[in-house]
Amino acid sequence: MTAASSSQENRSGQLRHRHLALIGMMGCGKTTVGRLLATQLDRTVVDLDARLVSNHNMSISDMFSLHGESWFRDAESALLVDALRETSGEVISVGGGAVVRAENRHALREQAIVVWLRATAETLIVRNGTGAGRPMLAGDPAARIRTLVLERAGLYAQTADFVIDVDELSVAQTVECVRAGVRSLEANHWAM
Ligand code: S3P
Repeated sequence: MTAASSSQENRSGQLRHRHLALIGMMGCGKTTVGRLLATQLDRTVVDLDARLVSNHNMSISDMFSLHGESWFRDAESALLVDALRETSGEVISVGGGAVVRAENRHALREQAIVVWLRATAETLIVRNGTGAGRPMLAGDPAARIRTLVLERAGLYAQTADFVIDVDELSVAQTVECVRAGVRSLEANHWAM
């Protein structure tokens, strides 16, 4: 069996037991959508940012200012790997920048159903406001958001199983779209 077909088999097998990972830019709603989704699906929710803060007993801003972005990305990647290894079927809210590392994109694709909550830069600029607590938006938050959206769109796209455009959606509507997307993935896989 080739590596590609083995990966294909992994991805098509046991969808119902796979983690459900939410990816997308800061402010796209991963945390709130993840919480409601987990409640409705009776799954555990793992918010990687919250876990980082609690494990290191330090705010994300302090992690960046004391240790730098590269240290933060290492810590984030280690936690993501841990979360993906945990008992299957969790809802995981993945920090917006985790996809910059190829190994994280690969691990997500291998071990989760991945949903990109996509928002336009305009929506994200409004939702992130002054960018307080978000070191990646320091300086000029609107300009940083525009740059990051351009840099990351391709990375989110190549990692996601499907995309939801969230600009006009409430949290409840977004959750319903995620559930519909997962049902449709399952139907396609079981039909194979
Ligand atoms: C980041 C996103 C944040 C947090 C950190 C860096 C990014 O998570 O991990 O501030 O690079 O996009 P959220 O997307 O959950 O806000």
